[in-house]
Amino acid sequence: MPAFPEYRPRRLRRTAALRAMVRETLLAPSQLVLPLFVRPGSGVRQPVSSMPGVNQTSVDEMLTDARAAAEQGVGGVLLFGIPAHKDAEGSSAWDDEGPVQQAVRALKRELPQLVVITDVCMCEYTSHGHCGVLVNGDVDNDATLELLAREALSHARAGADVVAPSDMMDGRVGAIRRALDANGFDQTSIMAYSAKFASAYYGPFREAAESTPQSGDRRGYQMDPGNAEEALRETWQDIEEGADMVMVKPAGPFLDIVARVKMETGYPLAAYQVSGEFAMIQAAAERGWIDRERAMMESLLGIRRAGADVIITYFAVDAARLLNG
Ligand code: PBG
Ligand code: ZN
Repeated sequence: MPAFPEYRPRRLRRTAALRAMVRETLLAPSQLVLPLFVRPGSGVRQPVSSMPGVNQTSVDEMLTDARAAAEQGVGGVLLFGIPAHKDAEGSSAWDDEGPVQQAVRALKRELPQLVVITDVCMCEYTSHGHCGVLVNGDVDNDATLELLAREALSHARAGADVVAPSDMMDGRVGAIRRALDANGFDQTSIMAYSAKFASAYYGPFREAAESTPQSGDRRGYQMDPGNAEEALRETWQDIEEGADMVMVKPAGPFLDIVARVKMETGYPLAAYQVSGEFAMIQAAAERGWIDRERAMMESLLGIRRAGADVIITYFAVDAARLLNG
């Protein structure tokens, strides 16, 4: 490599056109996915206080938000449901008339250009707020698999393009794949939350999804934040069980994992810029401590640069709007 003064890196930074020409990492609206929180009813739009700009909506209002995303070329949406009833088993999760199932049908009918992804987990549906069924106070892995498969199947029946299990039970990708295939849904994809860490950054989301555990925490099933080798094992295991796409979550504090998973597996990779990452930028911007648009784009570009193909982000529509000029 030539040394100074032959090599002067600043030559290519002189104009916006030069900088744009040699930029290594590009961000496109089609790579962004917008999370949406759907609840029963009509005309409902309930702001989430810890996530300025994010709302819980009924299906009709959800379509308004999804349409705005589609108009900006956002690639897809990720649906979370807030059911009318919760119980110990989370039985609303596989109700074919539940808010997520209705939202999927409405989206496929009205906005077929959007990829429809559904979050598959029990925590929004269980009265205790854990991601599976409790047996003697502990989340029972194998008993939960059957319930997750039922939920995923119900989402597939509604027409979901992709189901995304976020529960972190062992063996759930295989259980879901088998259930889908056995029922004629061999074309429904699985995006596995493979390396999902037990994170403080999920705080605002739990307000949005009304899914805070009533007792204890999720450290018995979500990953310990110190573990990178284990993240690779988790990811390979999901791939072997049939995941079409894998995920690292959260994104920002785990960019090393994003980079390693991409380099070592080569699989289509999503990274989830979670509620706390979003809320921090929003809050600092509200105080005038940070430039909201620049911080938003820099955080997203960093996630792409680390190796993510797809970014799940509450900024999806705003970022797409900016990218579209
Ligand atoms: C549910 C789920 C969570 C998130 C996505 N799916 C929360 C959790 O595990 O407690 C977090 C998303 C976010 O914080 O934006 N299993
Ligand atoms: Zn959960």
